[in-house]
Amino acid sequence: MEQVKYGEDYKTDFQPEEYLQMYYSTLKGAPAEGDMLEASMLFWHEAFNQGHMTGRRLLDIGTGPTIHSVISASNYCDTVYLSDFAPQNRETLRKWLDGSLQHSFKSFFQFVVDKEGKGELPNDREAMLKDKVVGIFPLDLLQAEPLMPSLFPPFDIINSSLCLEAAAQDLASYENMVRRMGRLLKDGGHVVLFGVLGESFYRVGSHSFSCLKISAEQVQDIWKRSGFTIVEWKQKATDAQCDGSVSNFEGFFLMVAQKSR
Ligand SMILES: C[S@@+](CC[C@H](N)C(=O)[O-])C[C@H]1O[C@@H](n2cnc3c(N)ncnc32)[C@H](O)[C@@H]1O
Repeated sequence: MEQVKYGEDYKTDFQPEEYLQMYYSTLKGAPAEGDMLEASMLFWHEAFNQGHMTGRRLLDIGTGPTIHSVISASNYCDTVYLSDFAPQNRETLRKWLDGSLQHSFKSFFQFVVDKEGKGELPNDREAMLKDKVVGIFPLDLLQAEPLMPSLFPPFDIINSSLCLEAAAQDLASYENMVRRMGRLLKDGGHVVLFGVLGESFYRVGSHSFSCLKISAEQVQDIWKRSGFTIVEWKQKATDAQCDGSVSNFEGFFLMVAQKSR
């Protein structure tokens, strides 16, 4: 039986092209994932569009090979720092930045500018986001100092999508990662976290990657214990006919939490 991948395996077995093709070819995502992708785009739009979360510097943690998670946010910050554990994902982001990536995120930009309703063109928004990207940095949540170099001043906003539950092997390591994320954030700053509930694996091409099976209560308890106030929580059960072919999540959520001052 094939071994489930985790940890260092991300550097060798996580194929960015396959991941983008399987999950981010269109706004509809993978058929076996139901409405999760489109719902996540709406959650981000609604969270940022309220205008409460503004700040100069935003860090996206575990960006992977995709930038869909920071499109809404890019209207509400001056600079965007992208980061990931796997070098091949960072390379894919570099290709997106220099325009050599084959994959198109146009439908994601179109979705956001349509929701914002200001007549902005998707290509202009993509150019704006690229202008705001300061860099693409190595980041490992398993390390006490996750962001290298660890010289960055704390961020105003931390955004992260589907990363914590992929990186953590158990609840104790999830909590350690949450505390490390917290130390990268300014007092009073916000975390915007998108995640899956009750998932134990997901597939990328021929490989299965492990995922921490976590409940909404466990996520909320850990963030509260780690010095955050949850200011927004949206959750949806999956409408997918999960046949276990690509993953087995039960639901997904978006949380906005504020670090204590
Ligand atoms: C399921 S992908 C999510 C990618 C993207 N953010 C998204 O929403 O599709 C999980 C990501 O977590 C990253 N990751 C795995 N272990 C990590 C670690 N120890 N520290 C930081 N990121 C890690 C992987 O490289 C991968 O890009």
